[in-house]
Amino acid sequence: MYQRAEQTLPGGTDSNFRAWGEDTVYVDRGEGGRVWDLDGNEFVDLRMGYGPVILGHGDPRVDDYVNERMRQGVSFSLTSEDEVGACELICELTFCEMARLTVSGTEATMHAMRLARGFTGRDKIVKFEGQYHGVHDYALISVLPNDVGDLGDRENPVRLAWGRGIPQAITETVIPVPYNDLETLRRVFERDGEDIAAVIIEPVLGNAQGIMPGAGFLAGVRAMTREFGALLIFDEVKTGFRFAPGGAAEAFGITPDLATYAKAMGNGYPAAAFGGRRDVMSMLPKHVSHGGTYAGNRVAASAAVQVLRILRDTDALGTVRRNGEQTQDGLRQVLDRTGLAYVFTGTPQMFGIMFSEALPDDYRGWAATDHQLYDEIAVGMMTRGAMPEPDSREPWFMCEAHAEEDLIDRAVSAFEGSLAAALEVRARRGASD
Ligand SMILES: Cc1ncc(COP(=O)(O)O)c(C=O)c1O
Repeated sequence: MYQRAEQTLPGGTDSNFRAWGEDTVYVDRGEGGRVWDLDGNEFVDLRMGYGPVILGHGDPRVDDYVNERMRQGVSFSLTSEDEVGACELICELTFCEMARLTVSGTEATMHAMRLARGFTGRDKIVKFEGQYHGVHDYALISVLPNDVGDLGDRENPVRLAWGRGIPQAITETVIPVPYNDLETLRRVFERDGEDIAAVIIEPVLGNAQGIMPGAGFLAGVRAMTREFGALLIFDEVKTGFRFAPGGAAEAFGITPDLATYAKAMGNGYPAAAFGGRRDVMSMLPKHVSHGGTYAGNRVAASAAVQVLRILRDTDALGTVRRNGEQTQDGLRQVLDRTGLAYVFTGTPQMFGIMFSEALPDDYRGWAATDHQLYDEIAVGMMTRGAMPEPDSREPWFMCEAHAEEDLIDRAVSAFEGSLAAALEVRARRGASD
């Protein structure tokens, strides 16, 4: 399939993130917490589509509802009750007073940033190094370099565009700051405060296995944005409807001005949204551009309605958390036997394993961990029936449908086998050096 696909799709895929050369995985189907590739190999899925599949693949509660709704037609560019219902549920579950639907997380962060610029009349946006907010030009600054030296001096980081094609003029409007670093943030505000429309932050460093905010960090960012008249945007694309029904804002007890959602709100259907304060959102109909032929399309909107009802009315998120805790317990038993220094990052619903004495504070800290060992293990797990992302920056995502057998019998034992194999290779390499 790779050979066929690469003839017509650059890299053989529709996203650079899944272009793994000859190792590119072509999927056949998924069910609950498992996926099957085109060769018929079965895996416990620990990627869950980079996070969206919170309930499990092919959840009949969602799919039946979406199927029923889509028989009425899917796209009108007219507003349906599904859209109103989805936004009402977002407002019921989160701090948002108003919301609008988009089709992807990328669109949601792009619109939230523009809205912040429109509301404040300022042009600049502060973001944190290593944070991924999608693939629009404003988001692709200082994201995930393999060589953290490219980020420049940590006191005065460079604006590092990811790839070609991002206009210099746009790069100039984005100011990167190391995560968990209030001192640098204050210096930036003291220098450029009058031009800063917003700080956009993923409350945890999701693209470095969910490095958590240090004590007082999010509260400090909240206070500083208020002090300098900028808005605070929580990018909850990964954390929203996963950490808690009200996302990381609820879990950490910090209320931003705007937030973006996607992933878990659709259980895999392309549902996304941005929302927040009524006075800010009210700029939209007249003063700030937002639209989209597919914004609020029935497939995504009805999926969101049903997923958000399930998350509101059942203990699905409790199960997701317990599944993560159980998996971490299993991994702990394996890892403690090796004597290796390791830490879990993130929360059990979305966690990483870093080989390090201490928890890193930021993306630069991730680079100092033994992420090569993690990568070797992740790749090895794929040959043993479990599929985490083969990149140490991506956390393991738990879903409600993961069964104990998936997590302990399959995922933890695949981890154990791969870890032993990776250590053996290292020992052999060490002996021959
Ligand atoms: C925190 C965060 N924001 C935004 C995005 C972009 O979302 P999408 O891939 O739906 O465009 C992602 C995707 O992984 C994300 O993790």
